[in-house]
Amino acid sequence: MRPSLIVHGGAWDIPDEAAEACTAGCQRALVAGWAVLAGGGTALDAIEAAIVVLEDDPVFDAGYGSHLNLDGRVECDAIVMDGATLRAGAAATLHRVKNPIRAARAILEKCPHMMLVAEGAERFAQENGVALCKAEELVSEAEWDAWMKCKKDAHAAEHHRGHEQGTVGAVALDYEGRLFAATSTGGTCCKLPGRVGDSPLIGCGCYADAEAGGVSCTGYGEAIMKVVMAKSATDYLRGQDSAAAHTEDGRGSSGAMLAAKRAVDLLAARTAGTGGLILLDRNGEPGFAFNTPRMAYGYVEAGGTFITSVG
Ligand code: GLY
Repeated sequence: MRPSLIVHGGAWDIPDEAAEACTAGCQRALVAGWAVLAGGGTALDAIEAAIVVLEDDPVFDAGYGSHLNLDGRVECDAIVMDGATLRAGAAATLHRVKNPIRAARAILEKCPHMMLVAEGAERFAQENGVALCKAEELVSEAEWDAWMKCKKDAHAAEHHRGHEQGTVGAVALDYEGRLFAATSTGGTCCKLPGRVGDSPLIGCGCYADAEAGGVSCTGYGEAIMKVVMAKSATDYLRGQDSAAAHTEDGRGSSGAMLAAKRAVDLLAARTAGTGGLILLDRNGEPGFAFNTPRMAYGYVEAGGTFITSVG
């Protein structure tokens, strides 16, 4: 099977001054993930490699550089899902895991449960070889400055470069037909301690079913949860053909693109929420959609060309 990879760095009002950093980050994530897939590696290794790059990049709201919660602490959530078994590994409210995707993977592969939170998740991660860090090491200067402004003044999107929501994600299909999807986030800025959004919730921020496709979402978690957006998008993929379908205006669009658009339309229609998603259908056809001003994303075309954009 031809491998395929798509990544995102969040759907939000990306200002012009951050656009280049966002596309460069997506490009680096594609390079890291594609090196695994092109070398015959697994989709699971590929999405971990891609997401680690995005988590380590402070322009994105995941891992290092995440938004701070109301107490001024980074509190991360992550999930990874296996499309073959429908098994997920998810972790929430992590303070001391440098790469939350690694904690999620440890839960996927080694835990009898599918989701752990807080100290229990960190303990399990550490016992299974995932390195912990000091909580302060996840705090970037930009997010600390933003939090200080919110504390002094009042919480405002402007203090966060208009960065109200973020999140990163990846979906990969490998030569053997293994399909995995993953999402990682620092959540919303100045959130209440203990708040968990859509990202680590199976079916909300992420879903993978090898019979249909894999999805990673981004945007306002409280709205995305209401329409179980990742599972909804996966359901829209069922019965869709990867080949060109036809939109109302008569222009061609792949079934994957149509499914992505339908899921974002559902979000808008039923919740008035904003966000976006990336997906691969079961054959690796990429799709994406968003109703925010911009979304950072990248994918590898069938010919091997890397496409990245904040458009
Ligand atoms: N979509 C990220 C969050 O709401 O936490």
